Amino acid sequence: MFASVAWGQSGSLMPVPGSEIARQVDSLYTFLLITSAIGCLLLIGGMIYFALKYRRKTEEDKTPYITHSHILEFLWSFIPFVLFMVVFGWGWWIYDQMRSFPEDAFEVHVVGKKWSWEFQYKSGRTSPELVVPVGKPVKLIMTSMDVLHSFFVPSMRVKQDVIPSRYTALWFEPELEGEFNIFCTEYCGTEHSSMITKMQVVSQEEFEEWLANDPMKGLTMAEFGEKTVKAKGCVACHNLDASRKVGPGFKGIWGAQREFTDGTSAIADENYIRESILNPNAKIVKTYAPGMPTFQGQIKDKEISAIIEYLKTIK
Ligand code: CUA
Repeated sequence: MFASVAWGQSGSLMPVPGSEIARQVDSLYTFLLITSAIGCLLLIGGMIYFALKYRRKTEEDKTPYITHSHILEFLWSFIPFVLFMVVFGWGWWIYDQMRSFPEDAFEVHVVGKKWSWEFQYKSGRTSPELVVPVGKPVKLIMTSMDVLHSFFVPSMRVKQDVIPSRYTALWFEPELEGEFNIFCTEYCGTEHSSMITKMQVVSQEEFEEWLANDPMKGLTMAEFGEKTVKAKGCVACHNLDASRKVGPGFKGIWGAQREFTDGTSAIADENYIRESILNPNAKIVKTYAPGMPTFQGQIKDKEISAIIEYLKTIK
């Protein structure tokens, strides 16, 4: 879609930091890593050195009687205390910036569901990938259709739980154009590990062009249905061919005789498909398990009709 650089998949230790806050997080992380390494060296190194130096060498060796040293006890309490307070203050300062939302942020709604993400723009456009302009704070207003998910952009070093029947938010200001990974980092079921998408950071012009070129415009109903199936994340669990995934493949469903776990059967017609989208657990096809979330309130009648028309074209 965009001529972009893919960040975060390089051989480097950490994903490329994509924002000012990400660089601050990295500085704190580096500080922690170095102080921990020095502490570990001093402690383990000292232990080995003393164990060797003062080991019992002859039968006559006696363990010296040592009680304590005020100055040493003070130092090994006070130095770690100072280090911990530095980490605390530094962490607080970064966290405060992460949780202070800029007034002028560009807002995008995010819906998490088993097992995909949907991004909803105020222009009406929806997308399975997040596209944002570079150099502008972006605020994501997030909710879940079903279970707990967690939204994570490693390159931005920000992560936030996505919760059903509640809104949570996070923000970041991308500095680099390119393609970045987005992961779900809360275990949410069998396909949790494939709940992955991309963030495209593009120039303001490219972004405006993308927003204006809604691919849902000027399509036949069946074409609109196919786009809807992809945009709504149905393809996370259903293949477009006849092969089995978490749920049945779409090809060949239309007009077919469906056998259900309760022993009944039905022909896959308009009402069957509508019900399967809005009340998915009403009829479970044999050999499958219930688990699809309801799309009630998440999908328009127009979109359901388009999906039906699409299924007719791949029977
Ligand atoms: Cu959604 Cu894990």
